[in-house]
Amino acid sequence: MFQSILPAPPDAILGLTDAWKNDPNPLKVNLGVGVFKDDAGNTPILPSVKAAEALILQSATTKSYMPISGAPEYGICVQEMVFGAGHPVVAEGRARTAHTPGGTAALRVGADFLKKVLPDATVWMSSPTWANHKGVFGAAGFKCADYPYYDAAGKGLAFDRMCEVLETVPAGDIVLLHACCHNPSGVDLDAAQWQTVAQIASRCGWLPFLDFAYQGYGDGIEQDRAGVLALAATCPEFIIASSFSKNFGLYQDRTGAITLVAANASEAAAAFSNVEIAIRVNYSNPPAHGGLIVKTILTNETLRQQWVGELDGMREHIAAIRTRFVTALGEHGVPGDYSFIARQKGMFSFSGLSDAQVKFLRDSKSIYIVGGGRINVAGITSRNMEYLCTSIKEALAI
Ligand code: LMR
Repeated sequence: MFQSILPAPPDAILGLTDAWKNDPNPLKVNLGVGVFKDDAGNTPILPSVKAAEALILQSATTKSYMPISGAPEYGICVQEMVFGAGHPVVAEGRARTAHTPGGTAALRVGADFLKKVLPDATVWMSSPTWANHKGVFGAAGFKCADYPYYDAAGKGLAFDRMCEVLETVPAGDIVLLHACCHNPSGVDLDAAQWQTVAQIASRCGWLPFLDFAYQGYGDGIEQDRAGVLALAATCPEFIIASSFSKNFGLYQDRTGAITLVAANASEAAAAFSNVEIAIRVNYSNPPAHGGLIVKTILTNETLRQQWVGELDGMREHIAAIRTRFVTALGEHGVPGDYSFIARQKGMFSFSGLSDAQVKFLRDSKSIYIVGGGRINVAGITSRNMEYLCTSIKEALAI
């Protein structure tokens, strides 16, 4: 039965890490997958996470099943992080949260739930978007369409063109939005632009679905809530997929959440019971460990403050690398104005490198970059900075 099956292509992002690991070149550089790295190129466990794990190990008494939506205390922590303490959406019981295995499962659970209630909807995505978005929503059976987002010429946001298209999205369709640190461009909406988008959503009647994978990596935990707060103030219904891979460094513990917001508490409860069905048929109930870590940190004031400091440190490290990279490109005489790299937010920079240049860097220099030219800035270190700049200069000359 399996003889006629052709091999599938490697994953556009995770496949690069496999190729990088197998590359014997000692100069190899992985700027692919969105993982934080320090200046030594390591992805350490955050000390606050280590401390929380020690507490969990001491106090754990069972490995019995979790509830389908995870521990209720975890949901409370997630809602406070996403909306801020005492937000009316939470106080009025309009938000319901489930613990999911990472942000990807939050997207997939949300997609499966929506396919049931909005079977004919189209899911609109920014152009460009995360390489896996179309895969996740396509696997749930949705048609996908694009709205303009990145202005390649101006290296910024194509906001007017974005709004023009969002105004035409039919009621009952779904619009996927990146809450902060847009992946792959690093170009975000400001608070006023979020309000405009929220007003369009409310006027046109499409459902906003926020992918919130980088809270704290843009300008800070509170500042990065601008999109959530604009939607909460204007739209009766929306969905948020959170990931704690990056901000808690819990990549391999697959820790995320889906939060559904409805017009009132009883509608939220009814809709959420269908989200729970989507969970039950996918993975039954979530793996506990990562959620316990997040809950332990967020409910312990000392650990919470320590973690906020560590998250601030990761954000500041990436911001400093952006500036150093722009300076180094200039010092090595790489032609072009790269100042936009220092203005982008989060882990990624949309470098402007063509697919041919990306291929040259991979094949000839063992520098791994996602197709389309997305660079994980956190992968740049003091050690590889010069090699990177001289290699990019060669790539631009091919
Ligand atoms: C990325 O975009 O690199 C990350 O979100 C990791 C992933 O799963 O693709």
